[in-house]
Amino acid sequence: MRNFITADMVRAAARDTKGGKPAIYVGKDTTITAEAKDLCGSLGVRIIFDVKRRPMVAANFKMNGGIGFLDRYLSELSSYLKQNSANFGDGLDVVVAPPFPLVALAAGTVSGMKGIDIGAQNAYFKESGAFTGEVSPWLLKECGAKYVIIGHSERRALFGETTGTVSKKLRAVVDAGLIPIFCLGENRDERKAGRTNAVIAEMLTSLYSLPMDLAKNVVIAYEPVWAIGTGDNATNEQIAEVVKFLRGSMMDNLGVDFALGIRILYGGSVNETNSFDIAKIDGVDGALVGGASLKAAAFGKIVCNFTVPKQ
Ligand code: PGA
Repeated sequence: MRNFITADMVRAAARDTKGGKPAIYVGKDTTITAEAKDLCGSLGVRIIFDVKRRPMVAANFKMNGGIGFLDRYLSELSSYLKQNSANFGDGLDVVVAPPFPLVALAAGTVSGMKGIDIGAQNAYFKESGAFTGEVSPWLLKECGAKYVIIGHSERRALFGETTGTVSKKLRAVVDAGLIPIFCLGENRDERKAGRTNAVIAEMLTSLYSLPMDLAKNVVIAYEPVWAIGTGDNATNEQIAEVVKFLRGSMMDNLGVDFALGIRILYGGSVNETNSFDIAKIDGVDGALVGGASLKAAAFGKIVCNFTVPKQ
């Protein structure tokens, strides 16, 4: 986060519209020169005083892990976090999302541990009924889940989930009293065609379909599809642009307080090494981790990397 804003910085921000409307995010103690202030008005650059959000790091096991694995994993993760808890400052949220049949077991196990919550990877949008093979968010809540991943690109691409389905699922999850981790992101062709912001804007309509008092609890995960499971993580610049676009869109649609309150995670080939730099990107509040989350110590290391304060 910058703490000194000059006229040149405002001119550079005005030229850089990849992240939507030009904006500069600053910390509360930032000095803005008089010339820079005037230029902001004439060039239409917004200065936004950002706030500190509680970091979150979530493990998405996908269709991996069994009962024995889960047991070992949670005790290893819990001791890793305990050993490193001195770094945690004001704290952060750590979430583990195993496959459905392990949710209740995992929730029972972590109830005796500090600092780990359980999530599910999907949920249907009905409370109960003749929907063979589906799982209700109300049941997930009863099983002890606190979070549900909704709109993951694998659900969208492999199981035909549309923005319409995702909107209904988001609504059901918040109505059940759970927190959605709402995934969105462009695929490789969409990025190449320069359609990233348009695709994300369309997916964001799911968030805007919720009443504002429910929408404020959603956690967003920006996950470019081409970066998931490929080892090809987005560059820090690409992540920063999309996060800026997301916050700008939320500011326009739901106001500044809403946009600055909501957490945005990055997901896509996050690992022990790259998470250190990803954690420093302004506006990124954590990570959704797939492959690298399957080793408890590696995931623990990623969690710790997100406790380092941003400069
Ligand atoms: P990855 O998966 O970390 O294996 O790329 C991320 C995700 O799908 O949430």
